[in-house]
This record gives sequence, structure tokens and C-alpha cells, in this order.
Amino acid sequence: MQAYTFTRYGPLDSLQFKEVQKPVPGDNEVLLKVNAASVNDWDLGLVNAKPDFMRFFTGFFRPKKEIQIPGCDVAGIVEATGKNVARFKPGDAVFGDLCVCKFGAFADYVCANENALELKSENMTFDEAACFPQAAELAIDALIDVGKLQAGQKLLINGAGGGVGTFGVQLAKLIGAEVTVVDSAIKLDMLRELGADHAIDYQIEDFTRTGQHYDLIVDTKTSRFAPAVMRALEKEGMYATVGGSMWHIVCSLFLFRPLMSLFSSKSYRMVAQKPNNGLKYMNELFEEGKIKAVIDGPYKFVDIREALKHFESAEHLGKVIVTMQ
Ligand SMILES: NC(=O)c1ccc[n+]([C@@H]2O[C@H](COP(=O)([O-])OP(=O)(O)OC[C@H]3O[C@@H](n4cnc5c(N)ncnc54)[C@H](OP(=O)(O)O)[C@@H]3O)[C@@H](O)[C@H]2O)c1
Repeated sequence: MQAYTFTRYGPLDSLQFKEVQKPVPGDNEVLLKVNAASVNDWDLGLVNAKPDFMRFFTGFFRPKKEIQIPGCDVAGIVEATGKNVARFKPGDAVFGDLCVCKFGAFADYVCANENALELKSENMTFDEAACFPQAAELAIDALIDVGKLQAGQKLLINGAGGGVGTFGVQLAKLIGAEVTVVDSAIKLDMLRELGADHAIDYQIEDFTRTGQHYDLIVDTKTSRFAPAVMRALEKEGMYATVGGSMWHIVCSLFLFRPLMSLFSSKSYRMVAQKPNNGLKYMNELFEEGKIKAVIDGPYKFVDIREALKHFESAEHLGKVIVTMQ
């Protein structure tokens, strides 16, 4: 089969498109024929070993042999199943996030633990399905599980133009919240179309200095220490960070949070991803026409490096999709 592999950490050009052995499913795994995959921050982090602590998990000097094909988000068809697999049979159309398995979606075939997958809604295309796993699960983790967002509350999503934000805006409007989005100008019309009530271009205006206050701030691009952002929170508000600069997140968690808890009722939380959280719920919302995927692309399989570079440049709208079949 064809796959994109890397044997040394480095720039995206170190990814090689080549013939590799088709994998064989273990007892609890299914073999998937990959129809589509989407690009995530973690795919870039895997290839270039950034942030540096990734090396503790992916291999210190070189990537471990079993994770030399990137690709977390996958949608495809089950071709074969291991002997203990009970949830799927050959021919099933599924989607899921393979970051807890061994990545590997940037290939014609990948093996995945059955628990990493969910049947996809019949009316969802494979390209649409590949948008959901990691971004939608992080949006659910941040807004619902951690943020406990309620109708009538004011939510701000910083860095809303990517995967998490595009699903987050739609989920928040379904809940009945008032939504403000922050991103660069080219993404704001798309976010308004998804339902955002207010939009701020971060290159022109600092959302923490507008005088507005929010019940929940979700940040996909944390680039400041928590106190600087938390001045834009209501008295009992929460700042939930999903990702961004590790320096700012670690200092905020271990230095500023304990200090702030002494004299403030505002809270700071780091959102921990729950892989494949809510994919069944996403199927239901999709079937009811209540949520949609925002696709950037699709790119062809042979153009995966361009897809990754497009994501790296941060010019993408929603999810960058690669179509294998
Ligand atoms: N917590 C966990 O367990 C976990 C697990 C997996 C991933 N993650 C993290 O979750 C995040 C995923 O978010 P995503 O996929 O939605 O990201 P994304 O697709 O990269 O979107 C981020 C958006 O932020 C914008 N942006 C960049 N700098 C900004 C700034 N200073 N202020 C406001 N907006 C800015 C970008 O556009 P422009 O650059 O054009 O402005 C882009 O539209 C990543 O940070 C990832 O590392 C967390």
C-alpha cells in the first residue's frame, strides 16, 4: 500500500510517499481502507517533534517504528476484523481519532482498535466524517464537559476559525449561548455564517480590552498568561484552554492558577482531550441538519505535504481534508 512515512524528525518535506507493507489487524483491531483523513496540530507535532516533550511519547531521538505514519482523524470502510472485534464487520463505514492508537491515517490502509471508531452517519460523506473526530471531541470537551455552557451565557472562542472553533460555534448556538469569535479577518464571515453573534479580528482589536465580559472563554491558541485573558471574564467566569503555547499554559496552570484561586472566583482550566467523546452525538446532530463540517480542500493523497503546509500556514478555514480514494 502507499503511505506517507518519516524516519527522522524534521520539516514536512521529510515525509516520504512510498510503498509500505499493508498492516494486519490485531485481535482487537479492524483493518480500515482509508477514504479520507484530516490534518491536526498533532500530525505536525509528530513529524517535527514540537513541542520537545512530545519525544517522551513518540521516541527520543527518532520516531518509534510503530508511529512513523502520521494522521489522527480518519474515515473509511472496514475491510477485515480481528478475532475479538464485536462492534464492526467488513463493509461498515466508520470514523474516528487514532491519536490513542498509533496514528497512521495518511495511508491507503490503517489498523485501529475498535474502541477508537464509531459508525458514521449514512448521509455524511467520508470527507465530512474526517472533519469531526478530534476537533468535535475537543469542542464538546471544552464547551460542555469542562465549560458547562448554559443557554443565555456569553461565550468567546479565541482562534475560532479552525476545527475546534467551527464546531464550537455551532454547538454553542444549539445550547443557546451568545457567541463571540476571535480570529483573523479572512475567517470571520465564515464564522458569522455558522452563527457567531460577534466577531473580532485579533490583528486589529484585543478582546481582553473591549470592556466586554464573558462567562466562558475557550482558547485554541493560548498565547498569553491566564491573568491577561481572565480580565475579560465575568465574576464567576471560566477560562478553558484547549491548546497553544506550552510555556504560557504550564506557567498559567502551576504558577498563576494557585495564586489566583486565593483572591478570585474566576477559574482557569486545561481541557484534556477525551478521544472519540461525542461522535455518536455528532452523527445525530448531523442527521438532524443541526451541525455541518467546514471543509478546506479536499487535497489529493499525493498532495498531502501541501495540505500540511496549508494547515501550518494557518490560512485554512475549518478542517483541511485529504481524500485517499
Ligand atoms: N487539550 C488537548 O488534549 C488537545 C488535544 C489535541 C489537540 N489540542 C490542541 O487543540 C488545538 C486545536 O485547535 P484547532 O484544530 O481548532 O486549531 P487550528 O485549526 O490551527 O485553528 C486555530 C485558529 O487560530 C487562529 N489564530 C492563530 N493565532 C491566533 C491568535 N493569536 N489569536 C486568535 N486566533 C489565532 C488561526 O488563524 P490565523 O493564524 O490565520 O489567525 C486559526 O484559524 C491546537 O492548539 C492543538 O494543539 C489539544
